Amino acid sequence: MSDHIEMTKTTPKDFLLATLGGLFAPGLTIFLIVMLVLGVRAGLGAPDAAPMADKAVRERIQSFGVSVAVDPNAPHIERTGEAVYAEVCSGCHESGALGSPKFKEKAAWGKRIAQGYETLLSHATNGFNKMPARGGDPDLSDLEVARAIVHMTNAAGANFQPVLKKEPEPSAADLARGKVVYADNCASCHDTGVTGAQKLNDAKAWAPLLKEGKAYLYNAAIKGSFGGPAKGGNEKLSDADAKVAVDYMVAEAKAAAAPSAPAKAAAK
Ligand code: HEC
Ligand code: HEC
Repeated sequence: MSDHIEMTKTTPKDFLLATLGGLFAPGLTIFLIVMLVLGVRAGLGAPDAAPMADKAVRERIQSFGVSVAVDPNAPHIERTGEAVYAEVCSGCHESGALGSPKFKEKAAWGKRIAQGYETLLSHATNGFNKMPARGGDPDLSDLEVARAIVHMTNAAGANFQPVLKKEPEPSAADLARGKVVYADNCASCHDTGVTGAQKLNDAKAWAPLLKEGKAYLYNAAIKGSFGGPAKGGNEKLSDADAKVAVDYMVAEAKAAAAPSAPAKAAAK
């Protein structure tokens, strides 16, 4: 009889432990497989195979939810304008080959610069007379082409920024929505700076990011960046919501950077 009572006492606990163990182990396995497949798919769909594969590896070897050490020597995906110029554009533009405007020659660049940045960007990206599309290197990203143009034109007196498209200012409604999305999905890291996330009011951390332009930041938010999870780790988040969250973050970062934002600057 006492044996019988013992059994009824311990059975629920045993049952619970067995159930939890039974559910947890396969659940974890499935989760890891899904993460692996997602990582591989992200790598395959990307335009820049090598850095993306590298990124996929980084994501997979990262313990979930934490990136304790962000490698300061991490390869930068996008090369500088100077590097792209040296590797690709200088082949013609250093000497003025094929009638190309020569580097630093203001007379050759003046009228071209006067056409405006957008036109130059379109010509260099798509080709123009004897100027080959992307300087003949199809592997150059839009941003690398833009940076190379800015490197060349600014050396000839222009004052351009390597942005990819005119960035429309987000509406008040977008910013309000972005604030909500941010609070729900992004604040956990970007409010505190945990795992190396750029804090919203850290103007210094954001300065280089703002220079990259929104297209870059949207992409980083949607697809993930080194240490920054895609969509803040919430895969159900729509691209549009991820973008307005970035709009909100950029607006906050700009406010922190502006000298006329004493409240935020002082709070830091
Ligand atoms: C194979 C030679 C060649 C290479 C390499 C080359 N260019 Fe050019 N580029 C030209 C020539 C030629 C022109 C003049 C085209 C014209 O005005 O008819 C030109 C013109 C331009 C212009 C001015 C376009 C305009 O509307 O006036 C820009 C901007 C430019 N190149 C950017 C680049 C960039 C950026 C690279 C490197 C990624 C590059 N080029 C590489 C030959 C080249
Ligand atoms: C789990 C923590 C975490 C969450 C949640 C998170 N981020 Fe991040 N994020 C990071 C880290 C870490 C970086 C810094 C990556 C680096 O060093 O470049 C980052 C960087 C970024 C960057 C800059 C990209 C770059 O190249 O550094 C943007 C934009 C960004 N996050 C947007 C978002 C948005 C939008 C959300 C919410 C939808 C979000 N993040 C949620 C950790 C997070």
